[in-house]
Amino acid sequence: MNSRLPACVIDVGTGYTKLGFAANKEPQFIIPSAIGIKETAKVGDQSSRRLCKGVEDLDFYIGDEAFEATGYAVKYPVRHGLVEDWDLMERFLEQCIFKYLRAEPEDHYFLLTEPPLNTPENREYTAEIMFESFNVPGLYIAVQAVLALAASWVSRSLEERTLTGIVIDSGDGVTHVIPVAEGYVIGSCIKHIPIAGRNITYFIQSLLREREIGIPPEQSLETAKAIKERYCYICPDIAKEFAKYDADPAKCIKKYEGMNSVTKQPFTVDVGYERFLGPEIFFHPEFSNPDFTIPLSEIVDDVIQNCPIDVRRPLYNNIVLSGGSTMFKDFDRRLQRDLKRTVDARLKLSESLGGGRIKPKPINVNVVTHHMQRYAVWFGGSMLASTPEFYQVCHTKAAYEDQQHGFISNIVRTSSK
Ligand SMILES: Nc1ncnc2c1ncn2[C@@H]1O[C@H](COP(=O)(O)OP(=O)(O)OP(=O)(O)O)[C@@H](O)[C@H]1O
Ligand SMILES: [Mg+2]
Repeated sequence: MNSRLPACVIDVGTGYTKLGFAANKEPQFIIPSAIGIKETAKVGDQSSRRLCKGVEDLDFYIGDEAFEATGYAVKYPVRHGLVEDWDLMERFLEQCIFKYLRAEPEDHYFLLTEPPLNTPENREYTAEIMFESFNVPGLYIAVQAVLALAASWVSRSLEERTLTGIVIDSGDGVTHVIPVAEGYVIGSCIKHIPIAGRNITYFIQSLLREREIGIPPEQSLETAKAIKERYCYICPDIAKEFAKYDADPAKCIKKYEGMNSVTKQPFTVDVGYERFLGPEIFFHPEFSNPDFTIPLSEIVDDVIQNCPIDVRRPLYNNIVLSGGSTMFKDFDRRLQRDLKRTVDARLKLSESLGGGRIKPKPINVNVVTHHMQRYAVWFGGSMLASTPEFYQVCHTKAAYEDQQHGFISNIVRTSSK
């Protein structure tokens, strides 16, 4: 057992794929979940592409190389966390394994991740690709939220380590609020929010466009993204922050320096109120999306209130952040404060409804952050796949071949309730 090569851990997200080996603290690679295929290759028609596999199938790039290659169309196999094009996904994984990890798939067990409420068909496709195309000896498909909860243990003492909590996983394409009780996702109470990293980038891009400040138009998206990742933060109160900004803009402004990719001339951008206005859409979604107006803190409260009464307190006490878009400075403080206000207001209401005779027990609201938050899902997977128990729960190739049909329902049972 000890001579076994470490398991490969791959978390394919809407925006970025995190890949590496079990027991490591950080993924070896974080690459865009993009694939560049020859423009001449038949795109869009998945069935005909499957039939005419040939040399051109080997001619593709993934990650950053997909954007750099000329004459290649860039595609994203994953949308809003779910795989949309399995053919592209298979090729994407092929290069992840052979070119990036430089691993022989027959020699490693694999841990892949899935979003909450993944369909059994999707799991079946994943198993088919991994066992039949790559011939892996063992596979485990773990629920991202449970991995994120396990990852948060790095910042908690032994007695505080629990698999009951709310996971707020905010990546590039979608934000999920997922309640987990004793390691099982409470599927019926999950909520999705149509605000994640990409929306904030678009919002900042539109704010910068309004100010018309010499950013080359073809670079406006990447500039907005870089500004977001480098300078944005979450403020305690948007009105007060604007007042502070108006009183002394110079104090708030940061200088972003970029380079025009065509002329190679440098350009600078003064980044002002975009810094706090961008991520504010988590708490004031109506700033960017008139169809969706519920602040994140209210959604979290709603999710918890929909859960069985006996888990509500532990859920409020363990709200775990995960994913790149929870990295904004003070995200945790603002969420904790706003949620506490909502919770306290409800307690006050029930106290006054009872005529002041019953004093409800206060509720602890605790938002947990840690230094692995950016790659929490991957890190949780890396921890899990480095334990001996991982090899016991893994589905083996032999079992897959033995019981093709029962296999999928087995995976379903071990992944979510
Ligand atoms: N320091 C940072 N501050 C703010 N946002 C960041 C930071 N670092 C990365 N991001 C943003 O996080 C997003 C990517 O996060 P992540 O890798 O968790 O997403 P994903 O797993 O690809 O997507 P999803 O989980 O939605 O499928 C991008 O929008 C990126 O711009
Ligand atoms: Mg993700």
